Amino acid sequence: MKLVFATNNQHKLSELQAILGNKFQLLSLQEIGCNEEIPEEQDTLEGNASQKAWYVFNKYGYNCFADDTGLEIDALGGKPGVYSARYAGSSKDPEKNMEKVLKKLAKIKNRHARFRTVISLVINGVEEQFEGEIEGEILTERRGEEGFGYDPIFMPTGYQDTFAEMDMNVKNRISHRGRAVKKLVEFLITTKND
Ligand code: IMP
Repeated sequence: MKLVFATNNQHKLSELQAILGNKFQLLSLQEIGCNEEIPEEQDTLEGNASQKAWYVFNKYGYNCFADDTGLEIDALGGKPGVYSARYAGSSKDPEKNMEKVLKKLAKIKNRHARFRTVISLVINGVEEQFEGEIEGEILTERRGEEGFGYDPIFMPTGYQDTFAEMDMNVKNRISHRGRAVKKLVEFLITTKND
């Protein structure tokens, strides 16, 4: 089965292709000639993941899955959530985003937060969603150089390292995205593998 992964991140694509095996042929957006920005206009992760997957299915006629991720901070009522990429403005600058979070939490004791990923899969016009999350806390300053986004200020529960201090393989195994992808892969392999 051909399946579009609504991403242009070749690394993410190859990693998943290796897990899925040759019953599934993953295609990137570029490979199907989709070079435009896919609309993400919803106010939930579920809504955005769904909108992206249906956009590709309806416009290009391919079975497809798309993901959307957010950092949900309890003391900020779940923000930045679906607006994580552009929390401090449209430049999508991770440094400014972290700065804004640290400022907002400066006098706040409850630092509990979670990363949450939602994946929408549309196959032959039927949608399934998969969710992965990891709980943790927001530190008071950045630690570590690896990863991206909010990694330097997020420490998962039960670990002494931030995501930015962890080996990438460890992060991928326990992360929100890793957990959502695992559910997607299990679904594909058990129900679509004939
Ligand atoms: P996306 O939906 O994967 O594009 O993620 C939206 C935003 O959430 C990113 O721009 C990052 O700011 C943040 N984010 C997503 N995944 C991670 C992660 O694994 N670590 C840190 N930040 C992340």
